[in-house]
Amino acid sequence: MKLLHVDSSILAQGSVSRELSADVVATFLSRDPGLAVIRLDLAATPIGHLTGAHLAAAQGAPADEALKSDLAMGQAALEEFLAADIVVIGAPMYNLGVPSQLKAWIDRISVAGKTFRYGEHGPVGLCGGKKLVIASSRGGVYSGGSPAANFDHQETYLIAAFGLLGITDITFIRAEGVAMGPEARSVALASAKRETAALAA
Ligand SMILES: Cc1cc2nc3c(=O)[nH]c(=O)nc-3n(C[C@H](O)[C@H](O)[C@H](O)COP(=O)(O)O)c2cc1C
Repeated sequence: MKLLHVDSSILAQGSVSRELSADVVATFLSRDPGLAVIRLDLAATPIGHLTGAHLAAAQGAPADEALKSDLAMGQAALEEFLAADIVVIGAPMYNLGVPSQLKAWIDRISVAGKTFRYGEHGPVGLCGGKKLVIASSRGGVYSGGSPAANFDHQETYLIAAFGLLGITDITFIRAEGVAMGPEARSVALASAKRETAALAA
């Protein structure tokens, strides 16, 4: 079994989503010590945004060395994702959505013919067997009937983007309200840790 561990917080220290995603991975490892973990840190090693040149190269247009190397990085990201049985993603909310580094990675793994295909009745996901755990951190509160729920373009986007790839087994480990004072932050972290512990059950 292979687990792909992806982080996207721009903070190397003090990141809530990194702490939570590391806990989730440790929990899976405690259940299955033989699990192979592949690590992807999208802040430390960002994947470039998809451009017209990438699409042209995929159609056979010539690519210079820089583009070739970027294409190879994207291909490696796609292969790592395809090979994973479990995907754990640290996904903070930035400006109501996901970090652009995470979006850039999702653009590289959402490839027609590889992770989804266009069918007679619309797109068909090809990654249905994967389990996805998202360690979600956000400063405000958007769940539980919050009036801000309509502004959540982070978790809702992730559900839709991975749904396109056929992934429906999605668990959120959520710490929200972390910017609403030290008490709210520690309550949010404790709640997320309980959710993580439940993964081991
Ligand atoms: C650039 C930036 C944008 C943010 N935008 C939002 C936001 O729109 N809504 C929100 O609730 N929190 C927002 N926050 C707060 C983060 O979601 C929160 O601090 C979270 O813990 C970040 O994840 P991290 O600790 O793993 O980096 C933002 C933080 C940063 C740094």
